[in-house]
Amino acid sequence: MAITLTVNGQTRTVDVEPDTPLLWVLRDTLGLTGTKFGCGIAACGACTVHLDGRAVRTCTLPVSAAEGMPITTIEGLEQVQDGELHDVQQAWIDHQVPQCGYCQSGMIMAVSSLLAQRPDPSDEQIDATITNICRCGTFVRVRRAIHAVADARKAGGAKKEERHG
Ligand code: FES
Ligand code: FES
Repeated sequence: MAITLTVNGQTRTVDVEPDTPLLWVLRDTLGLTGTKFGCGIAACGACTVHLDGRAVRTCTLPVSAAEGMPITTIEGLEQVQDGELHDVQQAWIDHQVPQCGYCQSGMIMAVSSLLAQRPDPSDEQIDATITNICRCGTFVRVRRAIHAVADARKAGGAKKEERHG
Protein backbone atom coordinates (compact mmCIF):
# COMPACT_ATOMS: atom_id res chain seq x y z
CA MET A 1 0.00 0.00 0.00
CA ALA A 2 1.37 3.44 -0.89
CA ILE A 3 1.93 5.66 2.13
CA THR A 4 3.23 9.21 1.87
CA LEU A 5 5.51 10.45 4.63
CA THR A 6 7.26 13.74 5.25
CA VAL A 7 10.73 12.87 6.50
CA ASN A 8 13.30 15.56 7.30
CA GLY A 9 11.36 18.01 5.16
CA GLN A 10 11.12 15.73 2.12
CA THR A 11 8.02 13.98 0.83
CA ARG A 12 8.63 10.24 0.47
CA THR A 13 6.14 7.68 -0.80
CA VAL A 14 6.71 4.11 0.37
CA ASP A 15 5.00 0.90 -0.60
CA VAL A 16 4.65 -1.01 2.68
CA GLU A 17 1.99 -2.66 4.82
CA PRO A 18 0.29 0.02 6.97
CA ASP A 19 1.08 -1.84 10.20
CA THR A 20 4.83 -1.98 9.48
CA PRO A 21 6.66 -0.29 12.36
CA LEU A 22 7.88 3.17 11.33
CA LEU A 23 11.40 2.17 12.47
CA TRP A 24 11.72 -0.42 9.70
CA VAL A 25 10.40 1.95 7.06
CA LEU A 26 12.95 4.57 8.12
CA ARG A 27 15.85 2.12 8.25
CA ASP A 28 15.11 -0.48 5.58
CA THR A 29 12.98 1.37 3.05
CA LEU A 30 14.43 4.87 3.32
CA GLY A 31 17.98 3.95 4.42
CA LEU A 32 17.98 6.28 7.43
CA THR A 33 20.00 4.01 9.68
CA GLY A 34 20.84 6.61 12.32
CA THR A 35 17.68 5.52 14.13
CA LYS A 36 18.49 2.30 15.97
CA PHE A 37 16.72 -0.90 16.99
CA GLY A 38 17.23 -1.90 20.60
CA CYS A 39 14.34 -3.75 22.21
CA GLY A 40 11.38 -3.67 19.83
CA ILE A 41 8.92 -3.16 22.69
CA ALA A 42 9.08 0.64 23.17
CA ALA A 43 11.20 0.22 26.31
CA CYS A 44 14.72 1.45 25.47
CA GLY A 45 14.29 4.57 23.32
CA ALA A 46 16.99 3.70 20.76
CA CYS A 47 14.41 4.15 17.99
CA THR A 48 13.25 7.65 19.02
CA VAL A 49 12.43 10.25 16.34
CA HIS A 50 10.26 13.37 16.36
CA LEU A 51 6.73 13.09 15.06
CA ASP A 52 5.16 16.52 14.77
CA GLY A 53 7.90 17.82 17.09
CA ARG A 54 7.35 15.24 19.85
CA ALA A 55 9.64 12.35 20.70
CA VAL A 56 8.12 9.00 19.76
CA ARG A 57 9.46 5.45 19.84
CA THR A 58 9.12 4.01 16.36
CA CYS A 59 9.66 0.30 16.91
CA THR A 60 6.01 -0.19 17.85
CA LEU A 61 4.45 2.71 15.93
CA PRO A 62 2.65 1.65 12.74
CA VAL A 63 3.83 3.66 9.74
CA SER A 64 0.21 4.54 8.96
CA ALA A 65 0.07 6.55 12.22
CA ALA A 66 2.82 8.85 10.94
CA GLU A 67 1.16 9.72 7.65
CA GLY A 68 0.54 13.45 7.24
CA MET A 69 2.79 14.50 10.13
CA PRO A 70 6.35 15.83 9.92
CA ILE A 71 8.95 13.26 10.93
CA THR A 72 12.46 14.31 11.95
CA THR A 73 15.19 11.74 12.39
CA ILE A 74 18.71 12.23 13.74
CA GLU A 75 19.83 12.77 10.12
CA GLY A 76 17.46 15.72 9.83
CA LEU A 77 18.11 17.35 13.17
CA GLU A 78 20.90 19.65 11.98
CA GLN A 79 18.83 20.73 8.97
CA VAL A 80 16.37 22.20 11.44
CA GLN A 81 19.21 24.55 12.42
CA ASP A 82 20.16 25.72 8.89
CA GLY A 83 22.92 23.23 8.23
CA GLU A 84 24.65 23.79 11.57
CA LEU A 85 24.93 21.08 14.15
CA HIS A 86 21.97 21.28 16.50
CA ASP A 87 23.11 22.69 19.84
CA VAL A 88 22.20 19.41 21.57
CA GLN A 89 24.46 17.54 19.13
CA GLN A 90 27.24 20.07 19.76
CA ALA A 91 26.83 19.70 23.54
CA TRP A 92 27.11 15.92 23.11
CA ILE A 93 30.51 16.48 21.50
CA ASP A 94 31.63 19.16 23.97
CA HIS A 95 30.71 17.02 26.99
CA GLN A 96 31.84 13.74 25.38
CA VAL A 97 28.54 12.10 26.23
CA PRO A 98 28.64 8.92 24.11
CA GLN A 99 30.60 5.79 24.87
CA CYS A 100 29.66 3.07 22.35
CA GLY A 101 27.13 5.50 20.89
CA TYR A 102 24.42 2.98 20.09
CA CYS A 103 21.70 4.59 22.20
CA GLN A 104 22.74 8.16 21.53
CA SER A 105 20.74 9.12 18.45
CA GLY A 106 17.57 8.17 20.32
CA MET A 107 18.86 9.96 23.40
CA ILE A 108 19.53 13.17 21.42
CA MET A 109 16.08 13.06 19.82
CA ALA A 110 14.43 12.59 23.23
CA VAL A 111 16.51 15.40 24.77
CA SER A 112 15.92 17.88 21.94
CA SER A 113 12.18 17.29 22.25
CA LEU A 114 12.33 17.75 26.04
CA LEU A 115 14.23 21.04 25.70
CA ALA A 116 11.75 22.32 23.12
CA GLN A 117 8.96 21.77 25.63
CA ARG A 118 10.83 22.60 28.84
CA PRO A 119 13.67 25.06 28.20
CA ASP A 120 15.26 24.58 31.65
CA PRO A 121 14.34 21.15 33.01
CA SER A 122 15.18 20.13 36.57
CA ASP A 123 17.03 16.88 37.29
CA GLU A 124 13.71 15.34 38.33
CA GLN A 125 12.07 16.38 35.06
CA ILE A 126 15.02 15.01 33.10
CA ASP A 127 14.82 11.69 34.94
CA ALA A 128 11.05 11.48 34.42
CA THR A 129 11.23 12.27 30.70
CA ILE A 130 14.52 10.84 29.45
CA THR A 131 13.79 7.19 30.15
CA ASN A 132 16.05 5.99 27.32
CA ILE A 133 18.29 3.12 28.36
CA CYS A 134 22.07 3.39 27.98
CA ARG A 135 24.04 0.20 28.59
CA CYS A 136 27.19 2.30 28.93
CA GLY A 137 25.75 4.36 31.78
CA THR A 138 26.20 7.83 30.25
CA PHE A 139 23.30 9.26 32.28
CA VAL A 140 25.43 11.67 34.34
CA ARG A 141 26.96 13.22 31.21
CA VAL A 142 23.55 13.30 29.49
CA ARG A 143 22.22 15.35 32.39
CA ARG A 144 25.26 17.64 32.39
CA ALA A 145 24.92 18.28 28.65
CA ILE A 146 21.19 19.02 28.97
CA HIS A 147 21.88 21.66 31.64
CA ALA A 148 24.69 23.12 29.49
CA VAL A 149 22.33 23.54 26.52
CA ALA A 150 19.64 25.08 28.74
CA ASP A 151 22.18 27.52 30.24
CA ALA A 152 23.62 28.46 26.83
CA ARG A 153 20.16 29.07 25.40
CA LYS A 154 19.30 31.27 28.39
CA ALA A 155 22.54 33.23 27.97
CA GLY A 156 21.90 33.54 24.21
CA GLY A 157 18.39 34.83 24.88
CA ALA A 158 19.72 37.33 27.45
CA LYS A 159 22.30 38.63 24.94
CA LYS A 160 19.57 39.10 22.31
CA GLU A 161 17.46 41.04 24.82
CA GLU A 162 20.47 43.26 25.68
CA ARG A 163 21.00 44.03 22.00
CA HIS A 164 17.34 44.87 21.50
CA GLY A 165 16.88 46.61 24.86
S1 FES B 1 13.85 -0.26 19.94
FE1 FES B 1 12.18 1.05 20.22
S2 FES B 1 12.16 1.51 22.32
FE2 FES B 1 13.73 0.02 22.10
S1 FES C 1 26.55 5.01 24.84
FE1 FES C 1 26.57 2.85 24.72
S2 FES C 1 24.51 2.24 25.04
FE2 FES C 1 24.54 4.38 25.43
